[in-house]
Amino acid sequence: MIEKNRLPQVAKPEMNAMHDEEADIVNMLLSAVDNGDDKTVTQALEALLAHMQKHFDFEEDMLRNRGFGMFDIHRNDHSRIMGETRMAYMNWRNFRDREALRDFIEDDFIEWLNLHIQAMDSVAADFLMLHGEKR
Ligand SMILES: [Fe+2]
Ligand SMILES: [Fe+2]
Repeated sequence: MIEKNRLPQVAKPEMNAMHDEEADIVNMLLSAVDNGDDKTVTQALEALLAHMQKHFDFEEDMLRNRGFGMFDIHRNDHSRIMGETRMAYMNWRNFRDREALRDFIEDDFIEWLNLHIQAMDSVAADFLMLHGEKR
């Protein structure tokens, strides 16, 4: 489970709200893996993928064409975890292995989210607060 009050905070509140929403979906997915039927797990995983897309588009749309030096590195880090999560989804569809899915979410996804917020989103939020919204 993600302890939401321990999620790293950045300078832009809308980004924190997005991370908070994503943590809710991750926690919903983990409880589905523990107690839900296969269909509930599939739906929760699909909800996570959809939310990741929304989260990453939101950040990339604010940062694109702004002269933000870390744009490509940041976007690549989004693409990498998107690819890994899609792979975990395909594995789930093919093998229904709850243990493997739980390991991915706990050891890879949650770890990624914490590190990404600290290393990438915090820098992006500072840039956006300093340079204002896109006009
Ligand atoms: Fe983010
Ligand atoms: Fe990000």
